[in-house]
Amino acid sequence: MRDPGMERGTAVTREGHETSTGQALSGAEWLDVHFEAARPEYEEMLRFVGVARGTRALDAGCGSGGYLPLLSELVGPGGSVHALDLAPENVRLVEERRVSGELPRLVEARVGALTELPYADGSFDALWCANTVQFLGDAELGSALAEFRRVTRPGGIVAVKDVDVTLARLYPASPFLFPHLSEAILRADPDDSQSRGSVRGRELRRWLERSGLREVRQKTFMIERWAPFRPAERRFFGDWLSYLARLAEERGVPGEDLETWRALGDADAPDHPLDRPDAYACEGQVVAVGRVPEAGGRPS
Ligand SMILES: C[S@@+](CC[C@H](N)C(=O)[O-])C[C@H]1O[C@@H](n2cnc3c(N)ncnc32)[C@H](O)[C@@H]1O
Repeated sequence: MRDPGMERGTAVTREGHETSTGQALSGAEWLDVHFEAARPEYEEMLRFVGVARGTRALDAGCGSGGYLPLLSELVGPGGSVHALDLAPENVRLVEERRVSGELPRLVEARVGALTELPYADGSFDALWCANTVQFLGDAELGSALAEFRRVTRPGGIVAVKDVDVTLARLYPASPFLFPHLSEAILRADPDDSQSRGSVRGRELRRWLERSGLREVRQKTFMIERWAPFRPAERRFFGDWLSYLARLAEERGVPGEDLETWRALGDADAPDHPLDRPDAYACEGQVVAVGRVPEAGGRPS
């Protein structure tokens, strides 16, 4: 299996992996590394949704298309897949993969926003949105969920997956390193939508319920890795910690934590904590799934 952490060498920048929309952690190379590092849990999360064979599915916020092969496999020969993303370069990449025949069930990838989906009412049987509502503030999340519900047929499934940074952990660093950072980020800028989004994961079930979806269920998945890390895992955690170290510096964490973040900030440092033989790194992600009411149920 290809391992982008190995293959791409230093191609992944340490600068935040922005796309042309200015959103961090959204560039294709970063997404490929993250997907490869977390593949078993990522695939388990999509399987948890229960996408049925022969159905029409939408991947809303498809990024570089990491989920499209499995989504295509799940809908099978009688099914179809559409993909949408805000970043034109991500959509171009997915379109290239479609044209090359790599994604036979993919009908098209197009540019669009979660809060204004360019599809008719009831176009899909299942909608999958992974690690994308983290970019929305609370008001926008409400609008996006209304759109998810509109474009999914009555009885169809809406599934939202996202990170919850408060679940992250690095050993042997303090167990409070990540919670302190989340708190500092939100304190410095309570209106920063991505910061709010990154700690909202375990609230998703309630958000889906409030949007009027039924039979809502939620599960948290821990992506836990122990040293020695595979190259993609080392690359993913190294780059993520570099990005977070920059935030820690900008947003002001307690002084003791700042020392730790500085040690974590240079992913290539020879004595980086991730290279300790007893290192442990973990991130937590949440999947919430609900069903669109059959006969015009209203949001509560
Ligand atoms: C972190 S990536 C996740 C990509 C993919 N779903 C995955 O899990 O690998 C987030 C993606 O959402 C896209 N995105 C961010 N805000 C969006 C919005 N409002 N509407 C549509 N796409 C958006 C970004 O361009 C990026 O490709």
